[in-house]
Amino acid sequence: MHHFHYRDDQLMCEEVSIDRIAEEVGTPFYLYSHATLTHHFQVFDQAFAGIPHLVCFAMKANSNLAALKLFADLGGGADVVSGGELYRALKAGIPSRRIVFAGVGKTREEMDYALKSDILMFNVESPQELRVLNDVAGSMGVTARVALRINPDVDPKTHPYISTGLKKSKFGIDISVAMEEYQVARELRHIQVVGVHQHIGSQITEVTPFVDGLVKVVELIGKLRDQGFTIDYLDVGGGLGITYKDEDPPVPRVFAEALIAVVKDVGCTIVLEPGRVIAGNAGVLVTRVLYTKQTPAKHFIIVDAGMNDLIRPSLYGSFHSILPARRKDGRETVLADVVGPVCESGDFLAKDRSMPPAEPGELLVVMSAGAYGYTMASNYNSRPRPPEILVKGDRYFTVRERESYEDLIRGERIPQYL
Ligand code: LLP
Repeated sequence: MHHFHYRDDQLMCEEVSIDRIAEEVGTPFYLYSHATLTHHFQVFDQAFAGIPHLVCFAMKANSNLAALKLFADLGGGADVVSGGELYRALKAGIPSRRIVFAGVGKTREEMDYALKSDILMFNVESPQELRVLNDVAGSMGVTARVALRINPDVDPKTHPYISTGLKKSKFGIDISVAMEEYQVARELRHIQVVGVHQHIGSQITEVTPFVDGLVKVVELIGKLRDQGFTIDYLDVGGGLGITYKDEDPPVPRVFAEALIAVVKDVGCTIVLEPGRVIAGNAGVLVTRVLYTKQTPAKHFIIVDAGMNDLIRPSLYGSFHSILPARRKDGRETVLADVVGPVCESGDFLAKDRSMPPAEPGELLVVMSAGAYGYTMASNYNSRPRPPEILVKGDRYFTVRERESYEDLIRGERIPQYL
């Protein structure tokens, strides 16, 4: 459920017409719906109401301060994967004890920062990282709360780039050696084991892989407890998929029921790290048609947003539905590639898409772009990144400004010897 809908053939975000925002802020821009973000967070959170839990939004999906503040106010925390994300989370007002830190390549500086900030726990991904964390915590005279990220070797049946729980993956610690690594952790003076973490992948549209992974992890928790470990937190990661086209993922309630059935007696606080399911369908990318071009082979719709603004179609071949901001009756559809201005053949938002024949000046709305949209945007081709706009009811607010040319060269220096 989201709040982007047509009213009198105008695509609205809540009560504001997208056309109007485009007139006022220019294009391209990201647009988020406050009501949708709120609704998605609450539905997900409430689905787990029956058990002790903490929803740590995976801010790699969307790290805008306004979105994070919104989740913080709803009782949410953050799953961070870098010092930069930690900085953002704290700036947005997320309490540090609601922050978990994953990632295979945490630096000493990032560990230092997270320890000083007193985050809830580190999700540690390798034996070497564990030792370095112990060392950093020791030098600070503190103890690091730790969960080991366990790789349960299940196939999430999703795009290979976003599968993370398979044996061959770079993520986590193989479940077959987990026990030994926990024993090592126990010997380290500045490490306090508090939990177990798993995250098997993203855009997963079935519950079975989650349940299969979790069954293995719950079994591990039993063995750990037998060995005298205190396991207070079971972090089940993120990964629940959304509908981009015709996927039919379980709704949060069904997802939660399946997970709760496995973890209800484990006696842990369940940490959840949803990203896409909260933000994905709460945001769109709005772009204007610059030109159309008919070649002997193809029809192209050239728009002012490119792969630097939304890389998912180019990187993963992802499908994003594209709608006209103003619906017109009686147009025959054409088969078109919607492409951006970037100098790469891989710069497309849609390929061979059957859609109305957009005309120069027309606004197109790339749907389901609220997760892994802006956060993966770059300045490639020296293109300033677009603004982010948040609509609430009949009002909108620029929650991040469009970058300027000045922004593009900030921090660059020409040395004197040139
Ligand atoms: N927790 C961890 C440790 C993760 O690595 C991720 C995502 C999440 C949670 C959140 O997963 P979600 O609920 O959003 O599926 N750029 C790709 C997705 C990469 C996901 C990386 N990790 C895309 O655009 O599809």
